[in-house]
Amino acid sequence: MPGFSWARTSSLAAVLLTAACAPLLAPVSQADVARAQARFPGTTTADLEHGRALYAVKCTGCHALEPATRHRPDEWPDEVNRMLRSAHLDRGEADAIIRYLVVSSTPTDATPLR
Ligand code: HEC
Repeated sequence: MPGFSWARTSSLAAVLLTAACAPLLAPVSQADVARAQARFPGTTTADLEHGRALYAVKCTGCHALEPATRHRPDEWPDEVNRMLRSAHLDRGEADAIIRYLVVSSTPTDATPLR
């Protein structure tokens, strides 16, 4: 196959993967923690990091990760609970993922949710 380069193909793939993943799972910020505490008092950075890590590990087996903003904050609990058995989550893991996704899908300029 003249002109075909696997090296070029795989570095393009790496660029595309990086570009696709960066906004999906942005690092947890202090602003995220502040928004989380408005809705889930006592939430720590570690709680959100835990939910983020579980989302990345437990929710990629069957389909691609969706950006958190693909669903509204009030839709995520049902979406995650629907996947609880498929993803082999216990209640605590599901709640950690829900907290992370609810916070990450809440618009940054929104007034705190009641
Ligand atoms: C064992 C495979 C499997 C795992 C693991 C899994 N899912 Fe799914 N998921 C599916 C299938 C199959 C569908 C499509 C059918 C449906 O919607 O029920 C789906 C659909 C979804 C949808 C709906 C997409 C839409 O277009 O509305 C969301 C959201 C979702 N999954 C989130 C998650 C989350 C969050 C996790 C991790 C907790 C997860 N999934 C883990 C199999 C899986």
